Amino acid sequence: MTDQTTLSFASPSAAAADGVAVVFAEDGPKFTSAAQDLDKKTKGMLSEAARISAFKGKKGSSVDVLAPRGVKFARIVLVGLGKPADYANDAWLNLGGAVRGKLSGREGGAAHVYLEKAKGELSAEDAASFALGAQLRNYKFDKYKSKNSETEKNATPLKKLVVHCADPGAARRAFAPERAIVDGVNLARDLVNEPANVLTPAAFAARAKALAKAGVQVTILSEAQMKRLGMGALLAVGQGSENTSHVAVMQWKGAGVRGGDPIAIVGKGVTFDTGGISLKPAAGMEDMKGDMAGAACVAGLMLALAERKAKVNAVGIIGLVENMPSGTAQRPGDVVEAMSGTTIEVLNTDAEGRMVLADCLWYAQEKFKPVAVINLATLTGAIMVALGKEHAGLFSNDDELSARLTAAGLETGEKLWRLPLGPKYDKLIDSKVADIKNTGGRWGGSISAAQFLQRFIKPGTPWAHLDIAGTGMASGDTDINRSWGSGFGVRLLDRLIRDHYER
Ligand code: BES
Ligand code: MN
Ligand code: ZN
Repeated sequence: MTDQTTLSFASPSAAAADGVAVVFAEDGPKFTSAAQDLDKKTKGMLSEAARISAFKGKKGSSVDVLAPRGVKFARIVLVGLGKPADYANDAWLNLGGAVRGKLSGREGGAAHVYLEKAKGELSAEDAASFALGAQLRNYKFDKYKSKNSETEKNATPLKKLVVHCADPGAARRAFAPERAIVDGVNLARDLVNEPANVLTPAAFAARAKALAKAGVQVTILSEAQMKRLGMGALLAVGQGSENTSHVAVMQWKGAGVRGGDPIAIVGKGVTFDTGGISLKPAAGMEDMKGDMAGAACVAGLMLALAERKAKVNAVGIIGLVENMPSGTAQRPGDVVEAMSGTTIEVLNTDAEGRMVLADCLWYAQEKFKPVAVINLATLTGAIMVALGKEHAGLFSNDDELSARLTAAGLETGEKLWRLPLGPKYDKLIDSKVADIKNTGGRWGGSISAAQFLQRFIKPGTPWAHLDIAGTGMASGDTDINRSWGSGFGVRLLDRLIRDHYER
């Protein structure tokens, strides 16, 4: 969890003679100048190793040379860049993660990466991106591994990662805000990975409260306060649990009074989703400890904004509840009234996220008059049927906000795919006994869930809903993440804010 590798930038010629050296080659293989230099110093060991292993500089490929002659490095890794000219926006980030994945502290505790292309200069932004990827890969959730276990004893963490690049000063400046991003993403991952017996709604609220140290103003609403506010939908979801429900409100006022109304980010924080009386099947239910990935992203984002002192006014609102079956749990058929006054017929107690969000979204608009509202939620299994784990679902009432989010997705690699909303879909959630029902049937399940949320958006408020059920947790190993929780959305929304909402 904690980051044991210190990262620094240095010039290509800065003295370095210990640990591992990482150098690069483009398709061919076309060696970079640092690779050529090490090849010369080792009397051709690199080119010989490349020839023997048929290394052609392809992206993702690499050759290892152990105990090279003529230099003090214990190991040289030659890494393929492929064709940097064709790189997508997140390519240097992912390369940083991939390279970090090849490193350990076994060879002496330091790694020197000679980051350059074979042709043309690498920008400071690309170097910072590479460094961010490396730091993001350097995350483990191992707090429940006993410290005397064999693997722990044999672990030799990498102490120092030095990125040698053309303009280390510029790279350092470009990387400065990214340190905050690493903290934000890792906070989100920690929260998602934490088991639900530890991370109850109250425990999550306490972790949100701790963001005060970074300068975020945090208020926690109690059940009594929520009752007074009329949050009947959120409270109904939590009423079956012994663990009390909470809403955490996190404000970052980096743009001051003159910055005007905030952007509001709302997150689903179901710390465990059993389905309630509409109980889920046993297989895979353990994954529902991650049903608070939306809220985790909001907390991580608020930390990142505060740490990098973003010039934006932002408010994060997360609904923290546990969905349990019990003698006090809500029943299918119940009718509850949301804070907005809308009545909801609860047809399926497993469609609980939308009920939690209904009250948080309304509260956000009533209390903060936000310039835009974005919510994140592990809302539907159906979004994985539609999009797999490659894209999160995007629903919006506003083409500009939607385009901005899509672009931020491509920039960060946290990709979004827009799905439709419309009156015909909205009809699916009309109820015979109340204003709306909480399920719209099997077909287009992610869309009717989004329509439900939209019933709690005031006309004129730009709004987007991100369904991150496939991307927020159990999203699979990537170059920049090997833990179960991905921290999805922190980099995406930070990018959106940097590009459009900072003054
Ligand atoms: N938390 C789940 C959605 C989910 C499923 C997230 C799998 C991640 C992985 C949500 O509360 C839920 O149960 N949704 C139901 C809705 C249905 C009852 C209308 C679903 O998707 O089946
Ligand atoms: Mn559910
Ligand atoms: Zn859920």
